[in-house]
Amino acid sequence: MNPEIRALFPGATEQIYLDVSARGLVPDPVREAAEAHLRVRQTVGGDKEELRAGVERARSLFAELVHAAPEEVALTKNVSEGLNLFGASLPWKARDNVVVCPGLEHPNNIYLWYNLQARRGIEVRTVEAEGGRLPVEAMAAAMDGRTRLVTLPSISFAPGFRSDVAGVSAAARAVGALTLVDAAQSVGAVATDVDALGIDALAVAAQKCLLGLYGTGFLYVRRAVADDLLPIHVARYGIDLDGAHETAFSQGELRYRPGALRFDLGNFNYLGAAAAGAALELLLGWGMESVEAHLCSLAARLAQGFLELGLPVAGGAPGPHLAHIVSVGRSGGGRHYTADDPAMNALHQHLIDAGVRHSIRSGVLRFSVGVYNDADDIDRVLELAGAWAEASGRDPEAAG
Ligand SMILES: Cc1ncc(COP(=O)(O)O)c(C=O)c1O
Repeated sequence: MNPEIRALFPGATEQIYLDVSARGLVPDPVREAAEAHLRVRQTVGGDKEELRAGVERARSLFAELVHAAPEEVALTKNVSEGLNLFGASLPWKARDNVVVCPGLEHPNNIYLWYNLQARRGIEVRTVEAEGGRLPVEAMAAAMDGRTRLVTLPSISFAPGFRSDVAGVSAAARAVGALTLVDAAQSVGAVATDVDALGIDALAVAAQKCLLGLYGTGFLYVRRAVADDLLPIHVARYGIDLDGAHETAFSQGELRYRPGALRFDLGNFNYLGAAAAGAALELLLGWGMESVEAHLCSLAARLAQGFLELGLPVAGGAPGPHLAHIVSVGRSGGGRHYTADDPAMNALHQHLIDAGVRHSIRSGVLRFSVGVYNDADDIDRVLELAGAWAEASGRDPEAAG
């Protein structure tokens, strides 16, 4: 990406920010859109039609980003709301099952299935991850005629490998099941085409790769699927009144708005929508193919460099599993903020002290590249890690 893009992110030069997987840096145009919204609210109160127009703009731009239609997109407040709205609105029958790989899921895509197990008597079929990878064959083998849903992360939050989403959705379709994707770590980082992936629903939030604010998310549901769903929650913006005012309805049969619009509830996070609109416009302007190529080439440079220093890079040499997240250490340690390996905790602290923002998740050091990063960021991290490795007497030949 060109330096003008980096210049939109003041935080990118104040530190080495490799933590988009926790939250992305907000660019100037997004801050300005949020400020403009607040100024209107402060000075004239705001006009509902204009506020709603901001929501529709964000909806349409998001639809464009994932190659969907606007009526296939609902606005939510986060990933888990999208996952829950879709999951709980499915017509479950007792003993239907959902197939999930908990070892690779953020807890927010695990809790809801056990909740539905308790409330609706569904079966949660779990599949083990294979070396940090989503096991497509094992997922397919766990599906049967009672599988109503298969769910997976498009990129796991740790160790951050890409999943074969199209492979899983094809297996799901073969048994008549739907596919729901937790795209928290992928949309905004890699090009996403919901039709090419063959999926039925996808949930994402704005604060990571979408460069927006907390409290804003999107739920995509394929039109033909959404049209048959009875939404678990309803409110005025999800009900079709043929243009009449919401007070026109007092009793009778509800008619839901088409597609995913039925999942809209009451007033929106208009501030978040204004910010999301500005961020989505930037991403679409840069082009997701260019963004993905930039992020992935920097991630590959980082992974290769770490390997050359003898560090245990999850997944080994850069390959098709790698997107914008590079994890170092032995994956699977349960703790969120420390690694199991004392050496990895020491490396983490060394890099934090030197101003390199990154995280520990599932026991691994997680470095996640954003659109604002450049090759100098990567080389500086490698230099710092190299100095640490040398000072700690690590042998570059003995990876791990
Ligand atoms: C894969 C994944 N799903 C979900 C979440 C969070 O969900 P929510 O936005 O609902 O808090 C995260 C990270 O915060 C994540 O990495």
